[in-house]
Amino acid sequence: MTRTLIKHALASETAMDNILVEGWIRTRRDSKAFSFIELNDGTSLASIQIVADAGIPGYEDIGKMTTGASVSIHGKLIPSPGKQKWEIQAASIRLVGTAPDSYPLQKKGHSPEFLRSIAHLRARTNLFGAVFRTRSRLAAAVHRFFQERDFVWIHTPLITASDCEGAGEMFRVTTLDPLANNKNHEEDFFGKAAYLTVSGQLEGETMACALSNIYTFGPTFRAENSNTTRHAAEFWMIEPEVAFCDLEGDMDLAENFVKYLVRTMLDDQSGDMDFFCQFVDKGLRERLQHVADTPFVRCSYTEAVDILIKSGHKFDYPVSWGINLQSEHERYLTEEHFKSPVTLYNYPAAIKPFYMRLNDDGKTVTAMDVLVPGIGEIVGGSQREERLDILMDNIKRLGLNEEAYSWYVDLRRFGSVPHAGFGAGFERLLMFVTGVTNIRDVLPYPRTPGHCEY
Ligand code: 4AD
Ligand code: MG
Repeated sequence: MTRTLIKHALASETAMDNILVEGWIRTRRDSKAFSFIELNDGTSLASIQIVADAGIPGYEDIGKMTTGASVSIHGKLIPSPGKQKWEIQAASIRLVGTAPDSYPLQKKGHSPEFLRSIAHLRARTNLFGAVFRTRSRLAAAVHRFFQERDFVWIHTPLITASDCEGAGEMFRVTTLDPLANNKNHEEDFFGKAAYLTVSGQLEGETMACALSNIYTFGPTFRAENSNTTRHAAEFWMIEPEVAFCDLEGDMDLAENFVKYLVRTMLDDQSGDMDFFCQFVDKGLRERLQHVADTPFVRCSYTEAVDILIKSGHKFDYPVSWGINLQSEHERYLTEEHFKSPVTLYNYPAAIKPFYMRLNDDGKTVTAMDVLVPGIGEIVGGSQREERLDILMDNIKRLGLNEEAYSWYVDLRRFGSVPHAGFGAGFERLLMFVTGVTNIRDVLPYPRTPGHCEY
């Protein structure tokens, strides 16, 4: 007999005479004549109630069917007198794997910090089951958004020789003996220095300048030593790149993308969203509805700096034109001043990477960041410098290795076109739509400074 997933059993249209469910016991209550078991198989937030009469085959093991134990249950799906529509009247019950008292998830209500220390078991809790199911659905929605718009998914390399962001935050990939302190890259596996990618953008640009609309969606690595609730050393990034597109088109795409994901979550019927709204963030649905319904504010960097200076607000990092905006500034703008998502654009050239397009003012570039309440930067992108001479000037001025970027420069030699794109942090999007406030709780196995367990 084939197993029915509990999610399908709970959603059944009709009663069933013969059903097999398998999962892990959340709780068990016994009376003289029967036992109640709450069974969860991770396919839905809701567990199904099993009624097992004393004396049915397998009941002799009931004492070992404790919280965390796995069981296989045959029976009938019948209308439930309780809160749920259905329950299972067991005909037989089989203990599959025991879970002794040392099973750490005995009681409900563990802190996220404790659950992080048992990340290999935490997906069995309501919160993390909901997070990881939502992660999967959100990833599918990302693909749907781009596939419906004729974007081609490109798998850019994870091992790379080029530094896209130029921020010196790359992990080295090497087979040299770490103890020998051998810095001779020619003797290394690739015959040159290699790193884990911080962005697939540069390779993505080459594909967009052939296929028109592309996106990447994959793991990204940054060795920045920032121990914040929004940074991970390994995270997933989505990077669309569009040929014949300017900054305006790029900002439109980013806004539509964020709104699409938000609407997908608002329409979600799985029950997981209800859980987030009830137990994680009571204002979540209202906030997401607001994001879905209102146009994002667009504000230049220069205007934003003016607003911050005039606000009279005391910031840890003082504000002046030319600074890299800190999280406190971004959050002030989106949470206090505009009370809405904000797309900031035209940042000072001096604080941005070499590939962004120089504006006519000669001091700003066509960068844009989407900031959202609660998180700050969720998307960062730009129109790219498509003019050969200016790009070469940037490469020289920043002392980048011209030869290493020659393939990238070629795009400006052969049929150069205006093009633009952005990077969206998948975990930040997931935090935004679930209300979960720490990036460590939306990654199955978070990698942060000092932490690489599992
Ligand atoms: O703003 P970033 O650094 O932009 C780029 O990498 C560009 N190459 C993107 C492009 O134009 N194709 O990163 C993009 C986004 C950020 O807005 C943030 O959401 C996320 O990636 N991000 C991180 N997420 C988690 N942990 C980190 N350490 C992150 N660093 C960036
Ligand atoms: Mg950025």
